[in-house]
Parts: sequence; structure tokens; C-alpha cells
Amino acid sequence: MTVVKRMRVKLALNFVFFVLLLYAAGGLSAIGIFKYGLHRAMDSLLIDLLAEIRPSVQVTEKGVPSLKSWANVALIERMPVLATIQLFNKDGTLLERYGPAGVPVVHNGRIQSQDKSVTVMSLSAPVTRHGTNFGILEVQASTAQDDRTLYELIFAVVIAIPIIGGLVAAAGYIFAGMALRPVERTMDLLRHFVADAGHELKTPLSVIEASVETLQEIHAQHNISSLETEMIRKASDRMKGLTADLIFLAKVEDPMAAFDKVSINLNHLVEEVADEYLPLAATRSVGLTLVEEESDIYIMAEPESFRQLLSNLLSNAIKYTDPGGKVNVLLKRDQLSPMIVVSDTGIGITDASLPNIFDRFYRTEKSRSRDGGGAGLGLAIVKAVADAHHATVTVESEIGKGSTFIVFVSATG
Ligand SMILES: Nc1ncnc2c1ncn2[C@@H]1O[C@H](COP(=O)(O)OP(=O)(O)O)[C@@H](O)[C@H]1O
Ligand SMILES: [Mg+2]
Repeated sequence: MTVVKRMRVKLALNFVFFVLLLYAAGGLSAIGIFKYGLHRAMDSLLIDLLAEIRPSVQVTEKGVPSLKSWANVALIERMPVLATIQLFNKDGTLLERYGPAGVPVVHNGRIQSQDKSVTVMSLSAPVTRHGTNFGILEVQASTAQDDRTLYELIFAVVIAIPIIGGLVAAAGYIFAGMALRPVERTMDLLRHFVADAGHELKTPLSVIEASVETLQEIHAQHNISSLETEMIRKASDRMKGLTADLIFLAKVEDPMAAFDKVSINLNHLVEEVADEYLPLAATRSVGLTLVEEESDIYIMAEPESFRQLLSNLLSNAIKYTDPGGKVNVLLKRDQLSPMIVVSDTGIGITDASLPNIFDRFYRTEKSRSRDGGGAGLGLAIVKAVADAHHATVTVESEIGKGSTFIVFVSATG
């Protein structure tokens, strides 16, 4: 994935996260407000009902409250009784009940029957005559309908989350793409600039190189040894390497440049690169070994860039290992994925530097003081080539003990 694409996905995901957060806050407040509204509506219903029935309560001569005469009228007039009306004596013993089954206790507020079959809102008021308390009148209404409505709302809010999430993700991805287009264009321009500048530098560099060579030949003929010409030669060599790296990096990172990936024998490639580095390892007195756990591992890759990836890892391993140390290249298969492990017993990398070593032009303090070092583009190239091949590179390192770079290759490229 290119940097811009990664940024695009990240932006879209952030967008989804914030919209869903807002949606959750909105949904929760809507549910809260709705619940409060239902509660208020039922409360005022019960208050009205209680006020309406209260005057119909009669108190017998024995001081017992009764609603019988009201009930007779209600029965004759076929008035439907939807609420539960209950009459208790002063001690809370149920005397009379009309309407559907409620919860036979004196209570104010929401209450559930013991068998949990009925849940009601209950409101009670004392039955008084001339200042004397004779009992308690209570009205109850079932909350079943309100509860069902509330659950339906909650269900609707929850069920909408994946739909909203999906739509927002799609919209976010499209918008992020639009917003990032200028960034992409700038990066494109920059890439082209680097590639063009690199190509333009090649010609004057070749002139310098050729001239220095001629100069050195002339010097040799006249038995002159010149430190300056040798310095110019070294500097032009480094510049040549640097321009080549820059051009290569610009090419590998170009999303438009489709790689011609072909099936290559990874064993052969690794053997060739290791052979190439045997002389360097020998001059530095570093032991270089190659272990192939499996033969005929084939991968889909662009041969030149993949060779460069291996070459950069190997040159680092040799460069950053002191004489007497060892570099080992291991080729194997982890489950189905081919895997290349380049380990050394070298100087190692500090934990603080590890996250940065794949950045362009990054070099650790220790490596700066070493001669023969590059400009810090080697691992940036390794990373870019790996990305272009859907491969991953991981590194483990301990200061003074050595480093291990592992390339997990995707067999299909
Ligand atoms: N095998 C290794 N052992 C120790 N340090 C390493 C190793 N490979 C890379 N590094 C560190 O990572 C830095 C970046 O590597 P690279 O991009 O190849 O740049 P360069 O080799 O040109 O310095 C190096 O400067 C070095 O500090
Ligand atoms: Mg390097």
C-alpha cells in the first residue's frame, strides 16, 4: 500500500469513528428523552385517573372505604376499566380490586409482581373524610406497551449502526481520496523531480569519473601520487551510488510503474547475491554463510529490485559487523511463506533507532563514524521494494550482539 493510500484508509476510519461516536451520543440522548417522555405521559394519566375516581370512594358506617356503588354504575354503563384500581384499608390490606390484575401492594412508582408477569406504574393516595384517614386508593397501569415501544426504538438505533458505519466508511474513503489528490500530485511531482534530477546528474558525474581516471593515469605515468585526485574519485563514486539509489527509490515508489513480476527461483537469487558479497566479507574478515533449508523456492518478483533488496541487507550486515564476526543468510519456508533471514553478530542497533532505520537518509551515530557507509538510503529501498512485493521486513537487534532482518515474502508477489 502506498503512503497516500494508507493515509486515505486511516482518514476514512477516523471519520467512521467520530461519526459513530456522535451517533452513539445522539442515539443515547434520544432514547433517554423518549423514555422520560413516556414516563411523564403515564404519570399524568395516573394522576388524572386518581383524581377522577377519588370522589367516588364511599366510607361505610364501620369506617371501611368502598367503591362498590361506583363499580355498579361502571358495570351498567359498560365502562371499560383499563387501569387497575385497588382499595386498601389503613393497614394496607387489599379490600377491593377492579380492572386487570395489578401488583397488590401499596406503592408509588414502577413495580413488578412477584412472579414477574406484570410490571406497572402505581400511584396511591389516602382516602380521607373530615381529616380522618380510612384507607388508601391506588391506580396502576401496565408499562408493557411503553416498554415495547422503547425496546423497538433501541433496536432501531442499534440495527442502524452497521448501516451508518458502512455508508460513512464509503463516503469517508471517497472524500479522503478527493482531499488527498493534491498531496498525491505533489508527491508525484517530487518523485519525478528526484528521478529527473538524478538522471541529469549522471552525465556530469560520468565526465568527472572519466576525467579523474585519465588524470590518475597521467599521474601514474609521471610517478606522481596525488591525494586530491583520489579524494575526487571517492567522492564521485559516492555521488554515483547516491544518484543511482535516488533514481531507483523514485522508480520503486511510483505507484504507476507496474512491476514486471516474473516467477524467480529465490534459491538461485540468494546464492548469486551471497557469492557477490564473499570478496567484501573476506576483506573485512567477516564469515559469510548461506543456509538453504529448502530448495526450489519460487516467488513472483521483479528480479532487479529484489536482488537490490537482498544486496542492501547483506551489505549492511557485513558493513556493520567487526572483523571476526559472522553473517548468516537463511532461506526457509514459514508455513507457506518463503522467508529470508539475514543475521549478523555486528554492532547492533539501539531501541531508540530501530523505528527510524527504514527512513530515508537515516543513519545511526555509530554508523556515521564507519567508513564505506552509504547515505542512509539502503533500508529505505529495502522497505520500498518489500512494499511493492507485498512482503514485510522485520528487524530484531541488540547492541553489541547483532541484528536480524527477516523478510517474509508473499509467494504470489
Ligand atoms: N545489520 C545492521 N547492523 C547494525 N546497524 C544497521 C544494520 N543495518 C542497518 N543498520 C543501521 O541502519 C542505518 C540505515 O541503514 P541504511 O539505510 O542501509 O543506510 P546506510 O547503510 O547507508 O547507512 C545504518 O546507518 C545503520 O545505522
Ligand atoms: Mg546500507
